[in-house]
Formats: sequence, C-alpha cells, structure tokens
Amino acid sequence: MSGFKPKSFRPQPKTLMGPGPSDVSERVLNALARPTVGHLDPQFVGLMDEIKQLLRYAFCTENQMTFPVSAPGSAGMETCIVNLIEPGEKMIVCINGVFGGRLKENIERAGGVAVAVEDDWGKPVTLEKVEEALQANPDAVALGFVHAETSTGVRSDADALCALAAANNCLTIVDAVTSLGGIPLKVDEWGIDAIYSGSQKCLSAPPGLSPVSFSEKAVAKIQNRKTNVQSWFLDLNLVLGYWDGDGARSYHHTAPINAMYGLHESLVMLHEEGLEAAWARHLEMHKLLEQGLARLGIDYLVDSESRLPQLNSVKIPESFVAREAEIRKQLLTEYDLEIGAGLGALAGKIWRIGLMGYGASRKNVDYCLNSLEAVLS
Ligand SMILES: Cc1ncc(COP(=O)(O)O)c(C=O)c1O
Repeated sequence: MSGFKPKSFRPQPKTLMGPGPSDVSERVLNALARPTVGHLDPQFVGLMDEIKQLLRYAFCTENQMTFPVSAPGSAGMETCIVNLIEPGEKMIVCINGVFGGRLKENIERAGGVAVAVEDDWGKPVTLEKVEEALQANPDAVALGFVHAETSTGVRSDADALCALAAANNCLTIVDAVTSLGGIPLKVDEWGIDAIYSGSQKCLSAPPGLSPVSFSEKAVAKIQNRKTNVQSWFLDLNLVLGYWDGDGARSYHHTAPINAMYGLHESLVMLHEEGLEAAWARHLEMHKLLEQGLARLGIDYLVDSESRLPQLNSVKIPESFVAREAEIRKQLLTEYDLEIGAGLGALAGKIWRIGLMGYGASRKNVDYCLNSLEAVLS
C-alpha cells in the first residue's frame, strides 16, 4: 500500500438521461448531507411515519403496509415474491422485456412455479394471452407484470391486468420501479395487491431504496403462510416490527438514515408539485422530446399509445448503428450527458433516453437534442 494516497471522490456532474438513476436536485442532495441521527431516535421515527404517509400519497393508496425497503428496486421485487409465493405455488408472469424475466427468476428461486406469458420486446402485455393463462391455470395464486418496462420503454395496461387477475381470484404483483411518480398509477383504484418501486427513477432520489405497498389481502396471505419466508432480511413479519411497531419499534436492521432523508425530500417535492402535475410534466417533456427527435430523423421503437413518457426508446438511425457505443461515449465525455444503451435483443439497436423526475425538464430536453444534433452531424 505504500505510495497509495486516496483523495476525496468528487465526480464530474453529469446530466442523467438514461434509464436511471435520474438527476438528483440540490434540495435532495442537501437533505442527504444533514446530520446522521440514530435509527431509533424519535426524530427519525417521526420521519419514517412521514415517509410512509408520503408514499401512500405517491402510490394512491390507503394501504397500511407501505414503506421503503432498505435496498434497491430488485430487493423490492424479491420482497414481494418471497413473502407472497410459497414453495410449490404457481404464479403467472408477463415477460415483455428484461424485468419480466427477472421477476420469473425470482419466482423460481423462491421455489414457486412460474407460468410465463411472453410478448415481443417493445410491445405491451397482451390482455387476451393473460386471460387465457389465468383460465388455464386456476391454481395460480398471483399474476405479476411490469407496469413500465425500462428495457423497452413500454407501458402495459395495469388497470386492465389487475381486473383480469381479480376476476380469476389471483393477487397482483406489480413492478412500478419506473412508473411511480412519472405516469398515472393508482394502487387502490386498480386493485393492486403488492407493488414495488425504486427511489432513483421518477422520484429522483439516489438509488438504494425500494418503496413497497401491500393490500390487506396480500397481508392476510403473508400472515397465513405455512412456511417461513426463506429470506431473513426481507421477511415482512420481521421488518414490520421496525417500520410499523406502534410506539415500540424494535431493531431489525440499521436503516440507511441519510438515504431516507433524501427519499423524504424527494417525496416532499412531489407532494408540493402535486402528483397529477408531475404526471402532466413528464408527458409534456416527452412530447417536446418526441418533436425534436422527429426533426433529427429519429423514430421511436414503441407505438405511440404504449410509449412511456419517462423512458424514450428510439431506434438508432441505420447510418450510426456501427458507431453507437462511440456516440454514447462522446456524449458522456464531451457533453457530460448520459443516455442508455439497448439491452438484450435490443442492444446496438436502440437508445434509451430518460426524462425522469427532476430530469423531466425543458432544460434537459433542449440539452439532449442539441448535444445529439451536434454529435450526429
Ligand atoms: C422495471 C425495473 N424493475 C426493476 C429494476 C431493478 O431496480 P434496481 O436496479 O434498483 O435494483 C429496474 C431497474 O432499472 C427496473 O427498471
């Protein structure tokens, strides 16, 4: 180690317009830097209560069991699966991109039986196929799908999918990592039973926290399990002693205190703006970007009715396909602008341009269009 002289890390700021994380505001960054207090300090317990209340607002739910898991979106996904699916139980899972596939893997690792309903990447989940699968598998206990597929930029019809599940006596487990705060999402009205999100997308807090919410029906299923949840850390029966204990909260794990300050600030900002206003802003910025990209001759992968405003997946023009990685690198190094590459089957074919949370701004839209134009010309 001799000669090793580490220094403080001071990253060059970037404009984050990829699939997440999104730009974090000064307000949230300042909140993160406030003094750390103990995780059972009454001040922090008060903050936890407010976070739960603000999350209920963001999810449009009255669900008591609503809180952030102390880990990223994938841990929210795993929390839903390991608590709701017991070994041997069957779950129908819709796959139209990377994250539906991850959901299937979680079901199988939890000992469940996954029945996959597959759609092409770039298309929404087909309701008819889901209905057929539900009818062919009356023993399925849950239906899972991704509301906003970040790998493709597609929105699926969560309301209609939940209605199908309810008509077939199935719980719903919904991935809202990219949808929360960016597009309409109504947990109670749509009858969603379990939902997970991420702090780093349309909430624009740093990554590392996963807001989740569970309906009474889901809670009852968890409480009546025949087997222990195989994960100690994610077992909701244990976690809730910390998040939900009335007055007497017991130690479960040491919460990421400062990360919670950041999430709280981002939720306060969402509340100040108003949820519907935030949805409208995402849509307005998406329309501006769409018009600008059309002027540059860049087309979308997804049909207009299923496009996510917060994740614009666009086809790389033929003449730039060979240099696509170089172009993204040039944007990152010369323009300090991050956009996302395609994943899986779409690698090298699309770019993913995020307009999420604090980053869904006119400034970012203009900067992205001007930088792309400069680099492509
Ligand atoms: C739709 C979706 N689900 C799940 C995840 C996993 O979240 P995380 O990377 O925070 O673990 C992501 C992350 O990009 C996502 O976009």
